[in-house]
Amino acid sequence: MKRIVGVKVIQLDEVGSTNEYAKTIAHEAPEGTVVIAKRQTAGRGRKGRSWASPEGGIWMSVILKPPRVDPRLAFVGALAVVDTLADFGISAGIKWPNDVWVGGRKVSGILAEGKAGEYSILGIGLNVNNPIPEELKDNATSMMELIGSKLPLEKVLKRLLLHLDGWYRVFLERPDLLMAKVRERTFILGKPVTVIEGEERISGIALDVLDDGSLLMDIGGQLRRITYGDVSLRLF
Ligand code: ATP
Ligand code: BTN
Repeated sequence: MKRIVGVKVIQLDEVGSTNEYAKTIAHEAPEGTVVIAKRQTAGRGRKGRSWASPEGGIWMSVILKPPRVDPRLAFVGALAVVDTLADFGISAGIKWPNDVWVGGRKVSGILAEGKAGEYSILGIGLNVNNPIPEELKDNATSMMELIGSKLPLEKVLKRLLLHLDGWYRVFLERPDLLMAKVRERTFILGKPVTVIEGEERISGIALDVLDDGSLLMDIGGQLRRITYGDVSLRLF
């Protein structure tokens, strides 16, 4: 089977943000083109938050052209990261909506963006051998820190591209199976959480991730569906 993700790989030493770079070439680039940089000088998370991207990590964006912009694309990234970590002996889980955590700390973040009818950009940041800034140390970790030694970055990238290709195909052909796996890997289910949606704080028990990617919560006996979007989730 011809691979989609990684059909073309653009390697950069330094860039502002691979997501922004990918957008500038998305029209001409074949689907599956990967933009990867050694360092980002303006790496971004959601809501314009900054993403620390010094040398040693994987900072990449995949240009995809699915039939429609679909927020569940972010789960392709999350599952691929979880599988890559497992390949190196690290057991990780998805913190809905867009992070991958190990032992209570964030090791990876996903930023999916799309332009309807044109392209989607799947941005992935994975802390591998890079240092974690002092101010993030309580909440962030890296593969190197978890394993106790430096990892072969090229090998990690190879595994990640392979898993991305696999999960992207599942996303296209059997989104129900993709979501079943997301449910299995989401570690917040059954736990008390607070979702912050704009000014609103919603506290309850996370029950399920539904097939459309939304989170089902039990708020004091009432069920509420939280749409996938710019929401933040806190565990407590
Ligand atoms: P939530 O997803 O619940 O809104 P979040 O803190 O994960 O909260 P995001 O916008 O998803 O917010 O991610 C950006 C945040 O990630 C930054 O505000 C920073 O706290 C953290 N962060 C920045 N760089 C890194 C990194 N390399 N590794 C881990 N975390 C980082
Ligand atoms: C988040 O947790 O909010 C998402 C972080 C996404 C970071 C990656 S690194 C590669 C790509 N380029 C960016 O500027 N952001 C994403």
